[in-house]
Amino acid sequence: MQMSSHKNAFKLLGCCLEFPLLALVHENAAKGVLRDDGSLSGANGGQSLLPWKTRLRIAKQLANALTYLHTTFSRPIFHRNLRSTCILLDDDYVPKLSNFSFSISAQSHVKGDNKIRASGYTDPDYLATGCFMKKTDVYSFGVLLLVLLTQRAAYSNQAGGLDITANPKFHVSDGQTQIQTIVDPTFVMPYQLICRV
Ligand SMILES: *[C@@H]1O[C@H](CO)[C@@H](O)[C@H](O)[C@H]1NC(C)=O
Repeated sequence: MQMSSHKNAFKLLGCCLEFPLLALVHENAAKGVLRDDGSLSGANGGQSLLPWKTRLRIAKQLANALTYLHTTFSRPIFHRNLRSTCILLDDDYVPKLSNFSFSISAQSHVKGDNKIRASGYTDPDYLATGCFMKKTDVYSFGVLLLVLLTQRAAYSNQAGGLDITANPKFHVSDGQTQIQTIVDPTFVMPYQLICRV
């Protein structure tokens, strides 16, 4: 509820008690949910790629939303479930962060609650210590950026498949990430990504 005033939060408009189960009424997210690889569902269940500029704007607005959660209230709110499938897009491709079912408010960290299932988005530090902090959300946000940049899912369902953060292309020998080798090729051609490090 606290988050509902932010323009990048998926707004809860009300609830309806007319049905046997409580129905929640949300704003309309006409473009749907971001798929595992950061694309949208296109016509006939196909894939609709988002242009680089749109992805960049989505990333920026999500960063704002996360900063809002972490800094606006006297006790920060941890989202704890940041992943592509928690991001809905409205008609204008404005991202709406949703699924706050694991969110929690705490002074500095949350320890010993085992609600969170490990996935490609989960900070290994959290897995080792069981301690959830702001930076645990920020790690997931970083993985989301990789998903948007590379157009690959954060985790592989195939046997022997690598999580996105384990991809050897991210560990090039001179310590510099070569953006041309990791980025989704469909971006590089039309947009000529320029990377200044
Ligand atoms: C919220 O996220 C959890 C974990 O990722 C998932 O199991 C659940 O189905 C999601 N809920 C909704 C309403 O999308």
